[in-house]
Amino acid sequence: MSNAMWGGRFESGPAAIMEEINASVEFDQTLWRQDIAGSRAHVKMLAQQGIVTEADCAAILKGLDAVAHEIESGQFQFTRALEDVHMNVESRLSVLIGAPAGRLHTARSRNDQVATDMRLWVRDTLDELDAQMRNLQLVLAEKAQEHAASVMPGFTHLQSAQPVTFGHHLMAYVEMLGRDRSRVKDARARMNECPLGAAALAGTSFPIDRFATAKALSFDHPTANSLDSVSDRDFVLEALSIASICAMHLSRLAEEIVLWTTPQFGFIRLSDAFSSGSSIMPQKRNPDAAELVRAKSGRVIGALTALLVVMKGLPMAYAKDMQEDKEGTFDALSTLSLMLAAMTGMIADMTPDTKAMKKAAGAGYATATDLADWLVRSLNMPFREAHHVTARLVGLASARMIGLEKLSLSDMRSVEPRIHDGVFAVLGVDKSVKSRTSYGGTAPQQVRSQARRWLTKLRKEMR
Ligand code: ARG
Repeated sequence: MSNAMWGGRFESGPAAIMEEINASVEFDQTLWRQDIAGSRAHVKMLAQQGIVTEADCAAILKGLDAVAHEIESGQFQFTRALEDVHMNVESRLSVLIGAPAGRLHTARSRNDQVATDMRLWVRDTLDELDAQMRNLQLVLAEKAQEHAASVMPGFTHLQSAQPVTFGHHLMAYVEMLGRDRSRVKDARARMNECPLGAAALAGTSFPIDRFATAKALSFDHPTANSLDSVSDRDFVLEALSIASICAMHLSRLAEEIVLWTTPQFGFIRLSDAFSSGSSIMPQKRNPDAAELVRAKSGRVIGALTALLVVMKGLPMAYAKDMQEDKEGTFDALSTLSLMLAAMTGMIADMTPDTKAMKKAAGAGYATATDLADWLVRSLNMPFREAHHVTARLVGLASARMIGLEKLSLSDMRSVEPRIHDGVFAVLGVDKSVKSRTSYGGTAPQQVRSQARRWLTKLRKEMR
């Protein structure tokens, strides 16, 4: 140990500590594909513009292929002494091809290089997440179509409110994921500008063609301000915000799965594949996957908060602080990917207990609103008065411990003499949901048409 002040972890003193805090290669090697793609586009452009010779360009491209092959096959030795992925790749290139390697870094800096790599990585990862969100939408909409008429209690304040259908409930999440995906689309369009060629911060005096590199890397165009190009990480923050909102949606669904699988609710059964047992209580089937989806949302949201705090005090342009954008982002987006995969598996495999749901839907006088609406419609009663009359009828039924539909006509007339037997047509949970035919309502015909609309759209996207 070299210094008592900075603890026992460091064998060789301050230099080792500097290397440990400074080096990023342990995590930014994740960016190697993007880094090599960026270098390929850059050197081809340099050759086109006559900044490097065709021969040097060919040697560099060949060398980059060899480096890529070494990394891909696990032979590549990343070393912390070379700090980050950019310098690891370039240093290996110079070992492999010699002098021409030194020309690759003409008219660029690690600042525009890392900004480009990160944009490519975030963009490609968002595309993959979008496909996973679509797959989850698909299994939800398929289940919803199957259960468009399966009645369950709808809740407000987690108190039985009005009957809804299970399909309707699942379709709510299809809508949420639809908005998550539209956020991906918006953010993708905004981030799809290429920082390469901004160089360290001020641009370059070499006659580069930034439009060519942007095009080669499938960006829409180059970024328009070199200072902004190297110092902005708002595209990462947007990706993390989208991921956080989506994670929050998944966490809510996960929480519902946790509730629904309790014996007290008993609405669904998860497959064995997505449940686990207890080591001491043989009766238990725990919804661990759902609990972990719920919990992992914390990591995703944490990464967003962390990067906002990292960025908020940075003067322009680049500062090493920005190196801290990576670990949290890699972790958050791969965590979201796992959450989406687990949720898709759980939904695809789960078995709803439609009998239990229906029984619960009828409990707690969930059709009281239907009764009040009937009084308004059939007796032309003002809604406030109907609310009052219904409350008295609920009181009567509750005193006898029977459902509203079990009250006799004469019982009902003791509260409101104008009630006639037409009232029985709206009492009962199936009748209740069937009557909610307003656009976006819970009536099975509405749920079916929404599920159909989504399924057509999603299947078309997959072709
Ligand atoms: N590893 C660095 C990062 O991720 C690359 C950029 C380094 N630039 C610099 N001027 N030191 O931010």
